[in-house]
Amino acid sequence: MNMREKKKLKKSDLSKVQFPLERLLNIKDLTNFIVFPVFLALLNRLPFLSLPSKPFLYFVGSAILWYIFAERSVRSNRYFNLHSAYRITFFSVVSFGVFVNSFVPSLGDETLLPEMTPIFLSVSMVTILIGYQEGIGSGLFMSFLASANLDNSLETFILLSVVVLATALTTRAIERRIEIARAGFEVSLIFVAINAIRMSLQGESINAVDLLIAFANPILSSVIAIGIIPYLEYASRIYSNTGLLELGNLSHPLLKNLSIYAPGTYYHSISLANLSEAAAERIGANAILARVASYFHDIGKSKRPQYFAENQQEGMNPHDNLTPSMSNLVINEHVKQGVEQARKYRLPLLVEDVIKEHHGTRVKKFFFHKAKNIGQEERSDDFRYPGPKPQFKESGIIMLADSVEAAFKSIKKPTPAKTQELVEEIVNGIYNERQLDQSGLDLDDLEKIIEAFTRVLMNMNQPRIEYPKETTEKVVSINGDSNSKQDIEEDRREQNI
Ligand SMILES: [Fe+2]
Ligand SMILES: [Fe+2]
Repeated sequence: MNMREKKKLKKSDLSKVQFPLERLLNIKDLTNFIVFPVFLALLNRLPFLSLPSKPFLYFVGSAILWYIFAERSVRSNRYFNLHSAYRITFFSVVSFGVFVNSFVPSLGDETLLPEMTPIFLSVSMVTILIGYQEGIGSGLFMSFLASANLDNSLETFILLSVVVLATALTTRAIERRIEIARAGFEVSLIFVAINAIRMSLQGESINAVDLLIAFANPILSSVIAIGIIPYLEYASRIYSNTGLLELGNLSHPLLKNLSIYAPGTYYHSISLANLSEAAAERIGANAILARVASYFHDIGKSKRPQYFAENQQEGMNPHDNLTPSMSNLVINEHVKQGVEQARKYRLPLLVEDVIKEHHGTRVKKFFFHKAKNIGQEERSDDFRYPGPKPQFKESGIIMLADSVEAAFKSIKKPTPAKTQELVEEIVNGIYNERQLDQSGLDLDDLEKIIEAFTRVLMNMNQPRIEYPKETTEKVVSINGDSNSKQDIEEDRREQNI
């Protein structure tokens, strides 16, 4: 083991170090469980410098509520374990939310108004960037702190919790920015309605100014959320569906580059996107992420496109002049190049993961057998991609679609039965190689994926009805008949038309 490897090992060991209390209580991350909620509780009280009458109960209550509402959804989220950026972004947005929810109502007169709590802002950002469950979990916790700050009443807690649920529900499947504004408007109406109900239940006269504040609050919050989200996406590389769709409009410089230098790979990526999108939709995974990650999965090939079959002209294969181990290195290079490009252009972290994982740790069988055939003593492990194996469902789908798309081209006159057989063979092969072990895909998902792939492949290969041929006067011709256009122009001039 060289020094570099030793350093790497030490670093990864460090991240697994647990505090003695953590080991004792078997709590995976003590920081989330106790330190963070207490920090938030303190943050909530900071602008006013007055602790509640029973601070101990308040802090312990915060920790318990954090565990009930937020911590569970965080732990069940696969992405939190993959990238610390998810944890950092989530905790930053929640901290920001707690601060703003305490600060804004204090801007009013001497009385703190629940109508002024901009809870829509932080809950919508968490829901859009991280997820629906996390939005609700942290939102309910924030409602608790905000109501403790306002008047310590259960009524305020319920009122704000309704807003949290409405916000998470209306922002859970946002695809266009305008939908955030629409969600803000819808939550405004709900906020006005529940405030009016609260006022009448308390026997107060309905106060128009308070209702106006309740109406303006979520709308203004939605405008601020629309403004902040792109900055958060750029900083964290965690993208909302809206941000992903912007990247997937094919005008990204990396995709343009791919279409110019590696057109075969470009068209392969587009077909792959259709396959993986359909499969992701079928199993309830993120279809937008699957589509966009497919576009970018092979961007590393634009550096040496001629070394990949889809870009080769017939009879011109540069691998013929390379040893199998050199070919192996050149092919591995496309993954490394792709990761470098993804970092340079700040592509989403999950897209970078797909670039790394789309071949998993599979063996390049063609070059391994080539090496064996020429009598080289090579181990199959030397011909493996560096990996890792797919770590989430969309990544697993793309690995399967990548092989299926390439193999489908080799079937002559594909029928639904032949296509399904091929897809089944590939999916089973990859499953048996244990490449999908960490992807979260189960056998039920794989069945649905096979169905979706077969349907899309058959649709892509739909035979066209032959159009009846009409005789057309040739006006434009690139080769051969180059004078025809000129002749026609001369005729027109002669006839003065
Ligand atoms: Fe690839
Ligand atoms: Fe590919």
